[in-house]
Amino acid sequence: MPADSSSLSGQGQTVCVTGAGGFIASWIVKLLLEKGYAVKGTMRNPDDPKNAHLRELEGAAERLTLCKVDLLDYESLEEAISGCDGVFHTASPVTDDPEQMVEPAVSGTKNVIIAAAEAKVRRVVFTSSIGAVYMDPNRSSDAVVDESCWSDLEFCKNTKNWYCYGKAVAEQAAWEMAKEKAVDLVVVNPVLVLGPLLQRTVNASIIHILKYLNGSTRTYANSVQAYVHVKDVAVAHIVVFETPSASGRYLCAESVLHRGELVEILAKLFPQYPIPTKCSDEKNPRTKPYKFTNQKLKDLGMEFTPVKQCLYETVGLGFFIWKNKLKNGISFT
Ligand SMILES: NC(=O)c1ccc[n+]([C@@H]2O[C@H](COP(=O)([O-])OP(=O)(O)OC[C@H]3O[C@@H](n4cnc5c(N)ncnc54)[C@H](OP(=O)(O)O)[C@@H]3O)[C@@H](O)[C@H]2O)c1
Repeated sequence: MPADSSSLSGQGQTVCVTGAGGFIASWIVKLLLEKGYAVKGTMRNPDDPKNAHLRELEGAAERLTLCKVDLLDYESLEEAISGCDGVFHTASPVTDDPEQMVEPAVSGTKNVIIAAAEAKVRRVVFTSSIGAVYMDPNRSSDAVVDESCWSDLEFCKNTKNWYCYGKAVAEQAAWEMAKEKAVDLVVVNPVLVLGPLLQRTVNASIIHILKYLNGSTRTYANSVQAYVHVKDVAVAHIVVFETPSASGRYLCAESVLHRGELVEILAKLFPQYPIPTKCSDEKNPRTKPYKFTNQKLKDLGMEFTPVKQCLYETVGLGFFIWKNKLKNGISFT
């Protein structure tokens, strides 16, 4: 965490956070409020109980406005962004359904950049993804994944990885539109995000862990995944917004684990759960983790929460609450 993360650097500034009720955006809103910013949070339905947690955040009563916005309805977006000093564009479908994913992600992102240009905001921070970076079958196993890497769109299409495809084309659209409209754009590319939930529903990345705890998965896959703590992702967004010299893309990752290492850590921390001990693929050699660098964010003063701590907080501060929510009939999304 950077040294000045608790300063009131946002006093007197108003910023817009799109998809404010989501997992990552809720943390961005929380930290922005703690830093003294006034926040306009967009969501498709401010009255949906899934967004209620935002109103309970410290400073929300005084400085948080919830705006009913559909990313595809330009006027609603324009109204939310007008008068803002900056925009954090985090809203996006998170799905592998091509129709629900690609067009809303691309058109929504273009609309955000156009509205930001109209409002003459200082900077737009766009939440992209590792999915826009690392899906490249031709990258050598020794290569270090960094901000210069782009996913291969044909490969994403052929493998029906519509989430990665959608994030990559949405990020490309953001860069093109920002250039055309002379908008100062900075992009954060997080890997799989874990950590304590502020919202009432469970998002896709948390299900990645939940499936190993609730007995629904008997084996683990022979594959690797990079992880990062949700608070670090939120801090990264704010640091790149507040640092005038920040530019380009920022890979936001702490470490890469093989699924076998992941379940081993989980089993040590939480032996009470039926965590799988067998790999589904006993024939092939163990998939090796890819190399990556997070130096660009470290150069801005970021420190990353170690993955063990991240897993501990994800389950320790989350799972008991999720179980109660299930009992109380609140859905998992
Ligand atoms: N979680 C991860 O591991 C991860 C990793 C890398 C990048 N990301 C990126 O981080 C962002 C947030 O992800 P998250 O994990 O926090 O997801 P999340 O909890 O599912 O939040 C996504 C938000 O996007 C909004 N949204 C979804 N579809 C929309 C649409 N068609 N139009 C308008 N708004 C829409 C939703 O708002 P409403 O439904 O309330 O309108 C929701 O609040 C996304 O851009 C995602 O691609 C996530």
